Amino acid sequence: MLTVGVVSLDTKSSSALLAMVQQTGLVQPIAQWDLMAGAGPTSRAGVPDVVLVEIGRDPSAPLEFAARLNHLHPSACIIACSPYQEPSSDLLMQAMRSGVREFLPQPIDPMVLREMLERLVKQRGMPQPEAEKLVVVAGSKGGVGTTTVAVNLAVQLARAAGKRTVLFDLGRPLGHAGLLLDLEPRFSFRAAVESLDRLDSHLFSGLLAIHKSGVQVLAGAANADEWDRISPVAIARVINVAQSSFDFVVADLDSNCSSEWAPVLRLARVIILVAETNVPSLWSLERQLSLLRSLGISSQRFRIVINRWHRADEEPLEAFEKRVKLPIFARLPNDFRQVSKAVNMGTALSRGQSDHLVSRLRNMAEEIAGVPRESPGKRGTILGLFSSKS
Ligand SMILES: Nc1ncnc2c1ncn2[C@@H]1O[C@H](COP(=O)(O)OP(=O)(O)O)[C@@H](O)[C@H]1O
Ligand SMILES: [Mg+2]
Repeated sequence: MLTVGVVSLDTKSSSALLAMVQQTGLVQPIAQWDLMAGAGPTSRAGVPDVVLVEIGRDPSAPLEFAARLNHLHPSACIIACSPYQEPSSDLLMQAMRSGVREFLPQPIDPMVLREMLERLVKQRGMPQPEAEKLVVVAGSKGGVGTTTVAVNLAVQLARAAGKRTVLFDLGRPLGHAGLLLDLEPRFSFRAAVESLDRLDSHLFSGLLAIHKSGVQVLAGAANADEWDRISPVAIARVINVAQSSFDFVVADLDSNCSSEWAPVLRLARVIILVAETNVPSLWSLERQLSLLRSLGISSQRFRIVINRWHRADEEPLEAFEKRVKLPIFARLPNDFRQVSKAVNMGTALSRGQSDHLVSRLRNMAEEIAGVPRESPGKRGTILGLFSSKS
């Protein structure tokens, strides 16, 4: 990944710039210099691949700093962030002499910054960075078990696969993930979106509620109005911040998988599509698959999960697999007693309580996390592959 540093007039604006860089998900922010504090890198190794320099109204000190960086590392790309939409020819000349290659007018448009960084990543022949940490869980329709799967998958990613996992509760109008884990979060995704101008991984971590399994939760809406003026583009920027400090980001999208969510869906390593074996649910799932394909998302990323599975479902499911040309990734048994008990007690499903269901959720987590599977002999009670039928 390209490394990025920022040079600013004060710590507050360099933190804001660094946060904006982190939210692109394209580069790794590594350095922050405050011109007032003076110090800067002293060797080539200390200069990142890309440096954003805020030049302000008096460009002399920032441009001097830029020239020093350029001297240490002539192939670093220095971008001047300027308060002018159209810098004067004088300023352009001075900047060029100091090694500045690009101008970015302030206030910075996050999309323009993203495009600029994307271009740089391509120019340098670096592979497009794919954070590959986001797992979206979406239901074919309401009530099919999307939140149950999202919450328990996140718990298994943390517990069984030992991954640092954050769960985004994007249930709309209301989010239920916090309730299922008996958490009393102080903040929701709204706080993250509202502080995007300075949201970096440090601030983000302060907004999370921690469950005893290790899963950290960015809570959902406790009031439908919290969704007012929240855009999926803004949520995608928050996800990029989360991806920079967690191994896995699980997002419970409930049944809201529409093209409006494309900026989030395109970030996903896998999209888990939860459905039940009945006509309305499978009909909706088929439409959801066509929608995702029409957004250019590869079918290789889709994982169909059939919840409340019974042996008698196999015939219609085989026909469905043929029709959509996709295998079913996991079949989760119906376990009304244990699931309701867990929901009402605010606990995640645990082994000993609902073994079949937990084994399959754990297998799903291990498969997604790429954890090598132990042989069934070693595990004793494990029922083998989750695609197996019991
Ligand atoms: N495998 C299962 N066995 C039994 N009950 C389940 C199962 N999965 C989900 N449920 C129950 O079904 C209801 C809907 O689940 P939920 O996860 O809230 O669905 P959604 O998020 O799709 O609306 C809840 O009461 C939940 O406890
Ligand atoms: Mg739900």
